[in-house]
Amino acid sequence: MCGIVGYIGKRSAQPIILGALKRLEYRGYDSCGFAVLSNGKIEVFKERGSIDELEKALSGVNVGGTVGVGHTRWATHGEPSRRNAHPHTDCKGDIAVVHNGIIENFQHLRETLAAEGHVFRSDTDTEVVAHLVERYYNGNLEEAVRRALHEVKGSYALAILHKADEKIVAARSRSPLVLGVGDSEFFVASDVPALLEHTNRVVHLEDGDLVIITREGFRIENGGNVVPRKMETVLWSIEDAERGGYEHFMLKEIHETPRVIENTLATHLRDGVLGGVDLDLDVPQSSEILMVACGTSFHAALVGKYVIEELASVPVRVELASEFNYATTPLSRETLVVGITQSGETADTLSALKRAKAAGCATLAITNVLGSSVTRLADRIIYTRAGPEICVAATKTFTAQLITLYLLALHFSSIELAERQKMLKELRRLPTAVQRVLDAEDEIKEVSGRITSYENVFFIGRGISFPVALEGALKLKEISYIHAEGYAAGELKHGPFALLTEETPVVAVVAPDRTYDIMLNNIKEVKARKPPVIAVADEHDEEIEKYVDFVIRTSHVEPIFSAITNSVALQLLAYYAAKERGCEIDKPRNLAKSVTVE
Ligand code: F6R
Repeated sequence: MCGIVGYIGKRSAQPIILGALKRLEYRGYDSCGFAVLSNGKIEVFKERGSIDELEKALSGVNVGGTVGVGHTRWATHGEPSRRNAHPHTDCKGDIAVVHNGIIENFQHLRETLAAEGHVFRSDTDTEVVAHLVERYYNGNLEEAVRRALHEVKGSYALAILHKADEKIVAARSRSPLVLGVGDSEFFVASDVPALLEHTNRVVHLEDGDLVIITREGFRIENGGNVVPRKMETVLWSIEDAERGGYEHFMLKEIHETPRVIENTLATHLRDGVLGGVDLDLDVPQSSEILMVACGTSFHAALVGKYVIEELASVPVRVELASEFNYATTPLSRETLVVGITQSGETADTLSALKRAKAAGCATLAITNVLGSSVTRLADRIIYTRAGPEICVAATKTFTAQLITLYLLALHFSSIELAERQKMLKELRRLPTAVQRVLDAEDEIKEVSGRITSYENVFFIGRGISFPVALEGALKLKEISYIHAEGYAAGELKHGPFALLTEETPVVAVVAPDRTYDIMLNNIKEVKARKPPVIAVADEHDEEIEKYVDFVIRTSHVEPIFSAITNSVALQLLAYYAAKERGCEIDKPRNLAKSVTVE
């Protein structure tokens, strides 16, 4: 939550900072601001709302200056407002601070600083950092920052300016921060897409790192010592992080799914490797797998449970990371703990993995982001190859997670070679199958019109289609603001039936597997209560239309892979429903893509 940037070089800082902030808006967009060092003064500009609004308020004025920092906010302490927008400054306005994270002991620090005479002008936790740096500033910014951070507890990615120094001091602890290295210019940012327009050479900073950046170069310290950090070349291109003619990132990202599947398979499938799957992992001696995740990644984990249990016969437990962290459930050292997080930064998932490590469990992370926090935490990493996902709602990264979980299941599985080869062939067919779902987009768009006028929608499924229904409901509610609930189809009659009327459409996810007949019975029970029913079903299913009002047809695949084709159809359903309702699709209200607070 929140995105920060910093620039130092020879070019005008303001347009570079604003451009970079636009690429970070997915991390928060309730208010924003920037500060530049111009003619020996710190100039600060802030606005409630998006970067576009800030630009409007500036009405074309460029304040000059070649050093600056900027911020786009997802409020944690203090309402979204200009007063609470970053950068925050010290009493004299000599120091400007942008921050992503939470200063946990800010209340105590604020009281102490206020008693010393520091005057606070916002309700944020961040402002204490500006005053602490002021307290310690004695002509040397990095020394003041070092001393200030000594007193701070919590998570932070910080970028700090002082009017007397042509430099940026940045620091990281439990919030992401990358350094971008250009030609005689340097950048810091919460995420790589913010830098791609200018450079693809990055250094992923680590917890405890403090970096001092001038036009001549940078120095990274940790614990008082200068530390070497590896420079990496990012393979994502700027086009990957742009809309490329699509009206929304969400639609573009859904349309990238076939390529994402191909890339993820190409990375992990190898000729000559046992069973074709090359995950560089030992088959676990573990008697159990525990998966921890949040939101959409949690739904991917639920699909993973189904697939791993089916193909590898290893019992899989799935826990919401936020619940697991406060549960007293005993954790055996024999358990392999898998954390699924596309961003690699979700605080709850990171804490769950830490808990697992502390209990002596082997840990594995599935993530989309190279160098993200989870990659430094887990023993083993499997990367999905989805490219940057800008829309707040996860789509292509979810599909990439599913592909990875199928591969993991095959990796652990001892099914016969012929069966395994059949599965791999089916996996390789998925890009084409998904493309056919995308080609039928207009039909899905038309069906979406059947739900947009309602305020409540149920999504139901059984077996592997149950988590698909959960994910379909999450997608619809978060971007269209229609209240949607995902339910196991057999559970509706245990309570929710009381809500079924002509005004509550039900979307039934129907896979041609062993749950098919019982699913039809469940649909009949629902229909008897009058709701309009939309089925998402296999193109070869000739029965289904007798029982429902509308059918979204998805390409025929082996039933175990229907989670992929059906999910893509539901993503499009949510997209078109939200579009018709005029919603802000890529940046739904109150959300942020990367949830770095527990
Ligand atoms: C919903 C969505 C969220 C995330 C959740 C976990 O569309 O994107 O529910 O799935 O915040 O995020 P990651 O996967 O980054 O841990």
